[in-house]
Amino acid sequence: MTRMTKKRILIANGVNLDLLGRREPDIYGTTTLASLEDELRKINPALAKAFGLDPAELNFYQTNHEGQFLDKISEGWDGAVINPGAWTHTSLALADRLAGLKLPFAEVHLSNIAKREAFRQHSYSAPFAVGVCFGFGSASYICGLSGLYAWIAKQS
Ligand code: DQA
Repeated sequence: MTRMTKKRILIANGVNLDLLGRREPDIYGTTTLASLEDELRKINPALAKAFGLDPAELNFYQTNHEGQFLDKISEGWDGAVINPGAWTHTSLALADRLAGLKLPFAEVHLSNIAKREAFRQHSYSAPFAVGVCFGFGSASYICGLSGLYAWIAKQS
């Protein structure tokens, strides 16, 4: 019997998300990026199981450099959970890249961008996402990863 190769999912955080836990905690909470990543690692097998899938290999990445972000999301992942930070609202380059890549991704935001400043209410990247989760704090990433598993399960 041939074994399916493990799916590879990228969890990509963009600009300023390295400051999580210290940065405006009233908006973004007190969870650090490292503990958010630990939470995801721990819950990953249960999420995959809920959709009848083997747990994917999770690969975590954060950068404050837009070009590096674009290169990382282009490495042929089976799927991605992406929080582009402020690039969400500013980057045509990211939007063009996501339009060109065949990358199934969930866009996530810790804060509820729909109730924040007007400039945060538009996302250049969201139209290319499978779906979007925001406003749940670090649980937005759990929502994003679940959505991605649901999408993967539907393909098989
Ligand atoms: C954010 C929302 C963005 O507007 C902001 O620029 C961020 C974080 C969020 O996760 O809530 O850096 O993406």
